[in-house]
Amino acid sequence: MRVAIVNRDPEGRVRELGSIDDPVDPIGERRRPCRSLSLGGGREYAHGEHTWDERSHGCAPVYISRSMMQVAHMDAALEINRDTWDTLAVTHRRDASGFYHIAAMLAGEDALCPIDAAEIGDLRGLRVAHLQCHIGVDSIYLARRGASVVGLDFSPVAIREARQLAEQANVQVQFVEANVYDAREHLDGEFDRVYTTWGTIVWLPDVRRWARVIASLLRPGGRLYFADGHPSLLCSDMVDGRMTVTTAWRTPADQPLAESGDRSYTGDITPMRHTREWVHPMGDILNALIDAGLRIEWVHEHTAIPWAHNSAMRIGDDRLFRLPADVPQCPLGLSIEATKL
Ligand SMILES: C[S@@+](CC[C@H](N)C(=O)[O-])C[C@H]1O[C@@H](n2cnc3c(N)ncnc32)[C@H](O)[C@@H]1O
Repeated sequence: MRVAIVNRDPEGRVRELGSIDDPVDPIGERRRPCRSLSLGGGREYAHGEHTWDERSHGCAPVYISRSMMQVAHMDAALEINRDTWDTLAVTHRRDASGFYHIAAMLAGEDALCPIDAAEIGDLRGLRVAHLQCHIGVDSIYLARRGASVVGLDFSPVAIREARQLAEQANVQVQFVEANVYDAREHLDGEFDRVYTTWGTIVWLPDVRRWARVIASLLRPGGRLYFADGHPSLLCSDMVDGRMTVTTAWRTPADQPLAESGDRSYTGDITPMRHTREWVHPMGDILNALIDAGLRIEWVHEHTAIPWAHNSAMRIGDDRLFRLPADVPQCPLGLSIEATKL
């Protein structure tokens, strides 16, 4: 199916720019149409709102530049992911699997991932931007540590659930709905810390742009705390009892990995349909941060992470998952501290 790319001129008239193969659903099942597509923040077209117009199916194809096509595909991929996260936010708030420890959190318990808890340092009195905050559970833990926290996520449902949870927990956190790439425009002032952990950049096509956003949020001397699945884990799986590389180590921005499944990483049964994901190598992450004007303070690799990446992994008393002791070990998690120069 081909769909039209249109935009509106300043008077609101629809103008057809061209058409592309429908990136919303290359697999065959029509999902709801994108609410809107930004074709690169006006890079090709300086003004006007770009919209995805369902009525224009079957339009005569016109020339679209390769870069415009790539941007359209990437933005469509983010829309697909947002749909999935809207669904997951409801499932995760219900917390049937207990993964998010929501009942315990509301009762006042601190279940912040022990890796983060050991590494983030003293947050008292600091302004913290929590990027990709999901339903805000970690934002609440950061606020309870004495920080003034703003959580940001592009899923309106996640933000709604986060606000309700913070209210129930009686903790002050501000939550903002926005694409992480637009965080600078949506968050006021400079931050002492940016915190973003466990399941973040895999959802982002452009890690250099991500790093520039982080640099733009931090005050000079402010610090990033980042923790996530190790790039070597994200391109591997368990095959015949050994961790084996199953996916390319670097995902091109315009060729995301399309994943489907009927279970969330929490173990809850819920559809994760056609998500678009990107593996970013360690060098790309570090160089993106350095080039954005941050100094890397340390990089830690971990043999434990907060979710079961494959069925061989076992949970420990610390709620972290590890490979069985009798298989060759590899780094599963990565954490980085970096300071804005
Ligand atoms: C795995 S969760 C967040 C991780 C967090 N550690 C947690 O478990 O609560 C990933 C979050 O990233 C958000 N997300 C994905 N792509 C995003 C984007 N481009 N801008 C903002 N948020 C995004 C999703 O909505 C989701 O809430």
